[in-house]
Amino acid sequence: MTEKSVSMDDIISLCKRRGFIYPGSEIYGGMAGTWDYGPLGIALKRNITNMWWKIFVDSRDDIYGVDAAILMQPKVWESSGHVAGFSDPLVECAKCKRRFREDHLDDKTKCPDCGGSLGAARQFNMMFKTHIGATEDEASVTYLRPETAGGMFVNFKNIVDSFHPKLPFGLAQIGKAFRNEIAPRDFVFRAREFEQMEIEYFINPKYWESTFEDWRTLMHGWIEAVGIDTSRVKENEIPDGERAHYSKRTIDFEFIYPFGQKELYGLAYRTDFDLSAHAKGSSVDLSFMDEETKEKFVPHVIEPSFGVERTLLAILLSAYHEEGEGDDARAVLKFNPRIAPVKAAVFPLLKNKPELVAKAREIYGNLKLSVPQVMWDDNGNIGKRYRRQDEIGTPYCITVDFETLTDDAVTVRDRDTMKQERVPISNLLARITKDL
Ligand code: GAP
Repeated sequence: MTEKSVSMDDIISLCKRRGFIYPGSEIYGGMAGTWDYGPLGIALKRNITNMWWKIFVDSRDDIYGVDAAILMQPKVWESSGHVAGFSDPLVECAKCKRRFREDHLDDKTKCPDCGGSLGAARQFNMMFKTHIGATEDEASVTYLRPETAGGMFVNFKNIVDSFHPKLPFGLAQIGKAFRNEIAPRDFVFRAREFEQMEIEYFINPKYWESTFEDWRTLMHGWIEAVGIDTSRVKENEIPDGERAHYSKRTIDFEFIYPFGQKELYGLAYRTDFDLSAHAKGSSVDLSFMDEETKEKFVPHVIEPSFGVERTLLAILLSAYHEEGEGDDARAVLKFNPRIAPVKAAVFPLLKNKPELVAKAREIYGNLKLSVPQVMWDDNGNIGKRYRRQDEIGTPYCITVDFETLTDDAVTVRDRDTMKQERVPISNLLARITKDL
């Protein structure tokens, strides 16, 4: 078997063709930096976010989930430093007028597209501005949140008052974030609207180094569990002077994408920057009585931050394989079954045989009660159905044939080994859920 390495074009075209991801507002010519998710894309995304929530929230008793409003008081973003400092250096070509992020350019004087000369860089704030209420003036300005973190810091006191946690404890949130990126690119890698899964883990500062190490390990564990190729993940310690304004230490977890080694996730030690800034900005005391030391202080924060779309992209790139030659050639997404958008597909061997269709429908309906992500497929011959299901990463294909009507068993074909096996219907559910 031969295998070729996957290109972004392979992934983008598969995503569009098979209903994972479409360009945003496509029939109007699209809108840069926005993407729409089709049935398989949203299923994959939800499986990722649900798995993350299960691991980092539901299975722990020290992490509290929140879902804060996307629109927040503009003072939140003043206190957090985003109004003053959440900006990228923007340069414009004098000739073609294209705009670039200066820090992404090797030659900062010449336009990479037309060779024209680039003007001086100016700081461009990436937050999307909007107005609250009917008056569009400076007083009504607010922002779409640029990170989910803010919604957790402003709810720190609510969680303390409702649940009385002891240090260390964390808040977790999954949700949309918006950034007016100067140059959105590389498919969903750099978008203007995207989703984050973030944890703000509050600690006594004397434990920051060990807690940072714990989260470093947990992030690697997640990367492996969700099905990202760990050999393509590298750590990058961000040096002094290059970290975000709030961070005393940051490690970027980078992934080797076809367009280069770039950020997948970030792990930051945000110190007490945020809680102190919000305490000052809101005049609300956000200090905390630590039961262990009997001291009152503003907790420090370790923040593991995960982009949902970058997770999805790294998974697609890790899972995609082209195998075989000639009639045996196939493209297959070898997803971890837990995040596969379709867990199993049910086929009647022939779609014009009512007795086969009825039996297959019965099996499909019963499976779907326990495993909603089951698909019905009766188009084309079995070989074509296998190829189609391989391409969307379905771990099992279940064929109902004439023998099923007498032996109450079906043929189960495994996506990765392509082996076929006869399985009694009574064992089918256990079989397809064994890795979930
Ligand atoms: N709260 C910290 C924070 O927002 P960040 O490094 O700016 O840190 C965290 O963003 C994660 O969000 C990144 O590691 C990446 O996975 C994702 N992310 C950031 N900007 C993105 C964009 N424009 N498009 C897609 N994902 C993005």
